[in-house]
Amino acid sequence: MVQMHRLSVAIDGPAGAGKSSVARMLAAQLGYIYLDTGAMYRAITYEALRKGLSEKDPKAVSEMAEHMNMKVAEGAQGMEIFLDGNNVTPFLRTEEVSRHVSPVSAIPRVREILVAVQRKLSEGGGVVLDGRDIGTVVLPGADVKVFLTASAEERAKRRFRELKGTPEERPFSSICDNIRRRDAIDAGRAVSPLRAAADAVLIDNSSMTLEETAEAIAVLCRRVQEA
Ligand code: DC
Repeated sequence: MVQMHRLSVAIDGPAGAGKSSVARMLAAQLGYIYLDTGAMYRAITYEALRKGLSEKDPKAVSEMAEHMNMKVAEGAQGMEIFLDGNNVTPFLRTEEVSRHVSPVSAIPRVREILVAVQRKLSEGGGVVLDGRDIGTVVLPGADVKVFLTASAEERAKRRFRELKGTPEERPFSSICDNIRRRDAIDAGRAVSPLRAAADAVLIDNSSMTLEETAEAIAVLCRRVQEA
């Protein structure tokens, strides 16, 4: 049997475009490892908040990040993050972490540290990474690059539905504001702003299901495999 080349797949795009669900589905389908890079920025943010550090003190947050003992592992629900041996995954998507993660992820040293970890974990391929700077900075040589987006309204609707009935449920307008604010910070920061790589395939999935989106990317992967 011909051994298939194990690809590296980069999925970038704004908050709420469905990147993590699509990346998880695709990785499961291909038998690849899924790396949720946003969760890594969230873990640093969570730890900074827990230690009472503010993003307004980038030096303190950077020092904390340098000494952090972060491990990622494949769990039943996807990627899990451990800090000093504790699984912090359940605490990463709270409103508080969501509010602070963009400014924390704009700290250059924090990005340097996490980009190095992400590159190391991607060595050898067979990975699907989702984030903001995967195709542009982390893996500029990725085999498949996708920039996944949807209208801000549609992304807010999805998050609203996701949070409905959970302790994190919030009014639609607050979710919409949060998404627009994060878009602006992520696109406007000096280091690795959110933008599509020149060679990324742009997919607007405003009127596509997550399954259809994952299939569209799987098609791109097959094309590269067959080329
Ligand atoms: O994908 P997410 O919502 O979990 O990402 C959380 C934050 O982390 C988001 O505001 C942007 C930032 N992020 C980043 O700067 N670079 C990445 N590769 C992934 C996420």
